[in-house]
Amino acid sequence: MTETFDRQAGAGAICPDLDGKVAVVTGGSRGIGAATARALAANGVEVAVVGRDRAAVDAVAADIRDLGGKAIAIAADCTVDDDLHRLRAEVHADLGRVDILATFAGGNGQPVPTTTETAEHWRRVLDGDLTATFLTISAFLDDLTAGGGSIVTMASSAAREPTDANAAYAAAKSGVMGLTRHLAGELAPHGVRVNCLSPATIETERMRAYTSDEVRARLAAGFPLGRLGQPQDVAAAALFFASGASSWITGVTLDVAGGHIV
Ligand SMILES: NC(=O)c1ccc[n+]([C@@H]2O[C@H](COP(=O)([O-])OP(=O)(O)OC[C@H]3O[C@@H](n4cnc5c(N)ncnc54)[C@H](OP(=O)(O)O)[C@@H]3O)[C@@H](O)[C@H]2O)c1
Repeated sequence: MTETFDRQAGAGAICPDLDGKVAVVTGGSRGIGAATARALAANGVEVAVVGRDRAAVDAVAADIRDLGGKAIAIAADCTVDDDLHRLRAEVHADLGRVDILATFAGGNGQPVPTTTETAEHWRRVLDGDLTATFLTISAFLDDLTAGGGSIVTMASSAAREPTDANAAYAAAKSGVMGLTRHLAGELAPHGVRVNCLSPATIETERMRAYTSDEVRARLAAGFPLGRLGQPQDVAAAALFFASGASSWITGVTLDVAGGHIV
């Protein structure tokens, strides 16, 4: 990888064992997923960037390619079976068998008081943040058990402690942690590791769009490490779980939370 690519990706080529591997990153069109796709590509990984927004996945993949990395863009909704079948077929046709699966699609954590929660919203959040994780893993399970590999799932500090996020989101992300632990035990004999990331407040584009400088400064002051998380902080943890540097670690949830969750 070129120096320019390493610097712009936000995480340099720090995991040489990842060179030549194939990864699928759902939620890759923006935020944490886009940063993770960039960080994997900076380490020589061929990346399928997945999200629902065709223009956004195209832009992330094109940016990676412009910087010297290898990436394809696939628009798919991870709650839809047919989309996942097509995603699997396109990844196999273009990149081959998958070694690394980052199931980061989700993010339905907008505040909803439980007194006004509806069954329809509850089911939609569970679908988008938990069932989508299961469906995506199911789609690539044969790949991963065939050759060993690493699955990295995405929870949230909302599953660690009460927050402003809605209850369905907290339940869904708790479910992701449980799913991760279960699959780690079930898939370990196949050489597949399954680990989970649990970020606290990450300063994504979306977060910046609905907060003022003042609000972000106040939130930052609440973290023992004195700042908000950046997408690259989560991407660096994802790299660790993807690489052989974590080869004897499976079934854990890692809090990427600036010291807030200890
Ligand atoms: N940011 C935080 O503070 C924070 C904290 C804890 C956990 N997380 C988790 O981290 C993950 C990424 O969040 P983010 O903050 O980076 O959010 P973001 O900037 O809003 O990005 C969300 C990503 O998920 C994708 N996505 C959502 N539903 C999808 C679906 N059904 N099928 C395919 N793609 C889907 C979006 O794709 P399109 O827009 O292209 O549809 C987008 O790429 C989420 O699971 C979120 O719950 C975030």
